Amino acid sequence: MERTLSIIKPDGVERNLVGKIITKFEDQGIRIAALKKLQLSKKQAEAFYAVHKARPFFGELVDFMSRSPVVVMCLEGENAIQRNRDIMGATNPAQAAEGTIRKSFSKSIGENTVHGSDSAEAAANEVAFFFAASEIC
Ligand code: CMP
Repeated sequence: MERTLSIIKPDGVERNLVGKIITKFEDQGIRIAALKKLQLSKKQAEAFYAVHKARPFFGELVDFMSRSPVVVMCLEGENAIQRNRDIMGATNPAQAAEGTIRKSFSKSIGENTVHGSDSAEAAANEVAFFFAASEIC
């Protein structure tokens, strides 16, 4: 059993896609162990994406992630880290497989609707960034 972090990004929440996105996870047997809606400050977005600080798109990414609310979830299930990424599809929606969240809903590599932790270490850090242990059940 693994836990991982999923974020429904501002473009997904703005377009009322929260239910449709959650359904894609639940239909695959992934359980929501924690969930909240919040708006990231620029500082929080910078801290969350600190690993991308040197990338040319960092400023754009921080502006986008803090422009309106997001929904953050701790997902739980067998191989949840990889399965979350499979359900999301490739980072660039133009390369995402049919049926994935990004193929279905995303317009660009910048506004790609969902985030998912990419390793066990990232999952532990990213879940802890948003949730106290007592909020996960
Ligand atoms: P995510 O999986 O949340 O991790 C880092 C994010 O940076 C990525 O999704 C994209 O939203 C964003 N990103 C990656 N590459 C680019 C790019 N070339 N231009 C703009 N944003 C990007």
